[in-house]
Amino acid sequence: MSYRVLITEPIVESVIQRLEKHFRVDVGKRGDFNNEEQLVKAIPNYDALLPMLSNPVTARVIEAGSKLKIIANHAVGYNNIDLEAAKKNDVKVANTPDVLTQSSADLGMALLLAVARKIVEAQDYLKAGKFEGWEPLGFLGMELNGNTLGIVGMGRIGTALARRAKAFGMNICYHNRSRVEAGLEDELDATYMKSVRELAEKCDVLSLNCPLTDETHHLVNRDILAAMPDHAIIINTARGPVIDEEALAEALHSGIIGGAGLDVFENEPEVHPRILNAPNCVITPHIASATHQSRKSIGMLAADAIIGVLQGKPDSDIPNLIQL
Ligand code: GLV
Repeated sequence: MSYRVLITEPIVESVIQRLEKHFRVDVGKRGDFNNEEQLVKAIPNYDALLPMLSNPVTARVIEAGSKLKIIANHAVGYNNIDLEAAKKNDVKVANTPDVLTQSSADLGMALLLAVARKIVEAQDYLKAGKFEGWEPLGFLGMELNGNTLGIVGMGRIGTALARRAKAFGMNICYHNRSRVEAGLEDELDATYMKSVRELAEKCDVLSLNCPLTDETHHLVNRDILAAMPDHAIIINTARGPVIDEEALAEALHSGIIGGAGLDVFENEPEVHPRILNAPNCVITPHIASATHQSRKSIGMLAADAIIGVLQGKPDSDIPNLIQL
């Protein structure tokens, strides 16, 4: 009897076909499993789960998965999975590092440029028929060259963003749980800051590139926003709850900071109404990894972990398993 795999919603077809060569695969409808109850109901039938980051894979879900052996998240972040429950129930967990580093750093840069140079606002103005010719004082923005980018979380994506920003002439500062190796600091000419607060005070742009954990929840709060220079821009391509969205909305409306580029939100898919109408705020619907290349590689990496575990490979041969 072959193993059964649940992919919670449609993903790149060649990934589904790869899994179908080995197992019986069911694919859910878009959004159906963004809900704990639906997962609890379905999971007893499956040996492997390939969930989206919007699916709450809670302790209840994992405990209901009496046959469940592996959860291979379709994302690099895994804050939607209860790791402790997985460990307790002997369920392996995988994520998809590396394959979305470049696409995510590209989007961080795109948001930064869009906010710094008021691209969306300027386009709206043009499309509204308001352009009456070149203006000496129209749409003045921030030049990247010579300004400072502060990165919270100098992992793969933070580093890839820093490399891009350095190529634009930015100075790089960062805060991380631990200092990165000297070779990387030298390459980026990067300065380590001991706290997020110090980083916030010093930089013209603050980019969040850390995972969401208990420690990073609301890491950017009223105090941090108040510490930033009033022209500063904040970029979030990490997870929404790393910023206190209420405080950010207030900071944008009252001019405490200069602008924001946001790909993630505190209560996705909802966006705080005062973020929707905030000045100098460019928002995208969680699309950092949305390139053809990344989404195919994400799927393949998750599928490979499922194939490896269900075929009994040793953990050491499955590089994207998370240490539980
Ligand atoms: C996207 O947000 C991911 O974690 O892969």
